Amino acid sequence: MNDRLQRVLRGEPVDRPPVWFMRQAGRYLPEYRAVRAGTTFLGMCRSPDLACEVTVQPVVRFGLDAAIVFSDILVVLEAIGREITFEAGEGPRILEPVRSASDAASLRRPDVADALPVVPQTFARFKKILPEVPILGFAGAPFTLLCYLVEGSGSKEWAHVKRLLWSDPVTARSILDLLADVVGDYLELQASTGAAAVQMFDTWAGVLSPEMYREFALPAAQRALARVKSAPRIYYTKDSAPFLDQLRSTGADVIGLDWRVDLGKARKVLGDVKVQGNLDPVALFAPEAEIRRQVRQILTAGGPGHIFNLGHGILPETPISGVEAMVDEVKRFTY
Ligand code: CP3
Repeated sequence: MNDRLQRVLRGEPVDRPPVWFMRQAGRYLPEYRAVRAGTTFLGMCRSPDLACEVTVQPVVRFGLDAAIVFSDILVVLEAIGREITFEAGEGPRILEPVRSASDAASLRRPDVADALPVVPQTFARFKKILPEVPILGFAGAPFTLLCYLVEGSGSKEWAHVKRLLWSDPVTARSILDLLADVVGDYLELQASTGAAAVQMFDTWAGVLSPEMYREFALPAAQRALARVKSAPRIYYTKDSAPFLDQLRSTGADVIGLDWRVDLGKARKVLGDVKVQGNLDPVALFAPEAEIRRQVRQILTAGGPGHIFNLGHGILPETPISGVEAMVDEVKRFTY
């Protein structure tokens, strides 16, 4: 049994930090592209067999310490009543964005076990193939899901979302509350059906000022995480350096950070909360010696109570040799 991840989550000593990385099942892998060629992205998210196949791929290829179940954060928007599409090269679209109180009234609170059965089914398949490897579940954080729900697609500025927060905070909060309850239920479903830990992705919270983060994203994240009782909780944000001090109060057991934060300083601010991250994904394009140097620096700054990861998802063009150097350098390290 590989229990490095669980040991860190329980606060027990380990020989070296566990390593896994965000988007580890993805297009940088030829074996992922081969599965993907025969179907659509949503087709993969809806099939426990295909999802399991691509979840296993990076774990076996690189000998990682954890898997993350293949799915997407946007499946929760389908479950509350919005159709989503992924056009080639365009990213996600939400067909009827929610921008008013009357739009919000058409959203529903589903029974997550009925509406979102694929991830628990994928866990069951995974455990038959790699019973010794811990698997993570995940969901989008309420604020990050609100971003896609209101904007209708990805965005640089997220102007529709910010306009809703300022012009109709009552409606914005009611949608965040709904999302928090559904996300919390969904994470708890995963925690009670096989996840060793669950990660909530607040990818876009960093577009908010510290004041707006405190007003909107933080209470919604707290509300969602408070519903999770059956496994440890990891909370990931990007661009969170300006409100790092607030992340302790999310209630998460581990805080995932991007590469703009010094891990040593973050540990001081976060106290006994554990950390995950935070290599710049673009560093994997650097010469091998430079990748190894950056990995060692992060491992030294992180210290015990650190889970090694990238600071955001791996890029599709990433050379596999860079990933191999990163993983090898973590495995050579000892505390
Ligand atoms: O980490 C993993 O390996 C688990 C699977 C996973 C995916 N998406 C698979 C995916 C996870 C955890 C996510 C999270 C996710 N999805 C986030 C939060 C984390 C982050 O990366 O910021 C967000 C914002 C999304 C929404 C999303 N899904 C976007 C914006 C896109 C399009 C961008 C792109 O890379 O094309 C996706 C598609 C997506 N999700 C892919 C994968 C492997 C690529 C789709 C494909 O194969 O064509």
